[in-house]
Amino acid sequence: MAKKLFIKTYGCQMNVYDSARMAELLAPLGYAPTEDAGEADMVILNTCHIREKASEKVFSELGRLRADRRERGAEDVIVAVAGCVAQAEGAEIIRRAPDVDIVLGPQTYHRLPEMVARATRAHAAKQWRSDLPARGAGLLDTEFPAESKFDFLPLASESPVSAFLAIQEGCDKFCTFCVVPYTRGAEFSRPVARILDEARALVAAGAREITLLGQNVNAYHGEADDGSTWSLARLVRALADRIPDLARIRYTTSHPRDMDDDLIAAHGDVPALMPFLHLPVQSGSDRVLEAMNRQHGVDLYRRIVEKLRAARSDIAFSSDFIIGFPGESAKDFAATMALVNEVEFAMAYSFKYSPRPGTPAASMDLQVPEAEQDQRLQELQAVLNAQQQDFNRAALGRVLPVLLEKPGRRDGQLVGKSPYAQAVHVEAAPGEIGRVVEARITDLGRFSLRGEIEIPPANFSPRGQEAPLMEASA
Ligand code: 5AD
Ligand code: SF4
Repeated sequence: MAKKLFIKTYGCQMNVYDSARMAELLAPLGYAPTEDAGEADMVILNTCHIREKASEKVFSELGRLRADRRERGAEDVIVAVAGCVAQAEGAEIIRRAPDVDIVLGPQTYHRLPEMVARATRAHAAKQWRSDLPARGAGLLDTEFPAESKFDFLPLASESPVSAFLAIQEGCDKFCTFCVVPYTRGAEFSRPVARILDEARALVAAGAREITLLGQNVNAYHGEADDGSTWSLARLVRALADRIPDLARIRYTTSHPRDMDDDLIAAHGDVPALMPFLHLPVQSGSDRVLEAMNRQHGVDLYRRIVEKLRAARSDIAFSSDFIIGFPGESAKDFAATMALVNEVEFAMAYSFKYSPRPGTPAASMDLQVPEAEQDQRLQELQAVLNAQQQDFNRAALGRVLPVLLEKPGRRDGQLVGKSPYAQAVHVEAAPGEIGRVVEARITDLGRFSLRGEIEIPPANFSPRGQEAPLMEASA
């Protein structure tokens, strides 16, 4: 009987990606995924360290798991902590939670099968050696190894309609608030050939949309077989040209500094590249951007938005904002509000600044009092929410291409995605999954849109003209 693997994933899409890869790596050891921690033979907490209370959350989850194991008499469940909290606080985890078997950072998850085998042997040994610790092998692997974990991944044999593909990891930007350069390590771009192979395999296995992932994805500079270096723009163009069944391409998360002209142009001339870009700006004040070490000013952001809109008039933007960065004055915050009002975002994430241990901003003077942060965050979120609602409302009555991804909650319903990553519910048969349909948006729900598939008229021609009666000759 298959053993059951439960993975709890915190944080970003990169972690979602890593969790899926860990599940694939453990499949040959006989582990099948489960959604229920209560029946698991192995539990992985794939953690995130980017904002506050990360490690407390991990310790309290470990406590819950401990109680559950005791209750169901399942002391030999293997417990692993992975991801960025493991990287940053691995030794502390082993000290405070000695019942954890495996601690591994984001760069070493390819070593998981070997570590699981060792933990399994340690559990077995405990059954006949009473001098061994009650449980927990306490294996720690948080180095930045010379080999790349990506070289150990099997190619996809099945894939969701919308799949992720990590092309880049880590970051050399060192924004003063951010732990990523410390937990994920130096910027690393995967070789072109591997990415193309993986994309082909994903599409062969059912993907119609691929989101290229990386912490600083548009810093991509991967090596091709001929020794040349490819930019993200070149990679996007190659994916679109060489994989005809790949209907949609997205990429995230990008940095304004790395939005080069070719990438901007690709938004205009690669139809598969979706007109929706997550481009975090963090703040609308030059002073704060400088203190954040973002390496650009507000004007650069404005210019990029303008250029992208010129290249692709229907493009929409999302962003991240940090409110209450050390030294942020009322005037700085007003500048952020002004930028938001000017750009008009389709959606955005906004966070209170949280000092991350070991980052330069954590020891800066003039930390903004929490009450002030709360006040500003509320003000910002009110505007961002209104902009998001306006953006969704603007879809009403329009016909949008929707990629049908999976069954909806109700019978006869499928859920798909608009070009702007809005969830759209339509009436359609399960056989339609994987198709892009034209849907007229009829309703706005709280978290999704509802649409009706447009039946093209009988004399429909995709170019919007009557079909010619005779072939024209040259
Ligand atoms: N405090 C608050 N928000 C942060 N982010 C990153 N580090 C911090 C921090 N220390 C936010 C940024 C980033 C997003 C992924 O998380 O906005 O773009
Ligand atoms: Fe962190 Fe800045 Fe790198 Fe983004 S660009 S991962 S915020 S250091």
